[in-house]
Amino acid sequence: MDTLTAITTRRSIRNYLDEELDISLIQELLRYALYAPSAHNEQAWKYYIISKKEDRVFLSEVMEFWKMLPNAWWAVLACFDKDKVRSIEFVPQDMWASIQSFLLAAHDKWIGSVWLGLYPHEVEMKKISEHFKLPENVAPFAIISLGRKNWELPDKLLKDEWKIEVL
Ligand SMILES: Cc1cc2nc3c(=O)[nH]c(=O)nc-3n(C[C@H](O)[C@H](O)[C@H](O)COP(=O)(O)O)c2cc1C
Repeated sequence: MDTLTAITTRRSIRNYLDEELDISLIQELLRYALYAPSAHNEQAWKYYIISKKEDRVFLSEVMEFWKMLPNAWWAVLACFDKDKVRSIEFVPQDMWASIQSFLLAAHDKWIGSVWLGLYPHEVEMKKISEHFKLPENVAPFAIISLGRKNWELPDKLLKDEWKIEVL
């Protein structure tokens, strides 16, 4: 898939086929997330693949909008390493760039994904840190739910075609 097709046809996918999805493919796809730009080239991201269903069930109960997780094949917990961050205010932008690269790479391999927002909800971030016993310096940022998807992609209507102007 070429880059522009990937950008325009990527969709959030919340229903997954009952089709094997090997963890090695998720590991391979996460390599693409590591190439994203980041402030001061900090690359402070840290990714965990959540392999156990019981953990996906736990996560699905942390936030109301995460109910697809028990039916996903894998979930990825995207975190950042506080010790590697020089300017904390740029962290959301760095993480966004990296996660978007991962979503596009997944789409290229026809793997369905949906970004589940977590940061900056401190109570839920703490719950997740404690559950997975994350090191002190590692802060959870977002979850990505993953599984094989069918070949029909939902349409996407852009909300406003006048979002781009020249000053
Ligand atoms: C920061 C962020 C948080 C999101 N959180 C959730 C979520 O908790 N649950 C969910 O089902 N989708 C979540 N999404 C996915 C959005 O709902 C989705 O991107 C949006 O509806 C547009 O659809 P599309 O991704 O198919 O273009 C999130 C997306 C972003 C960028």
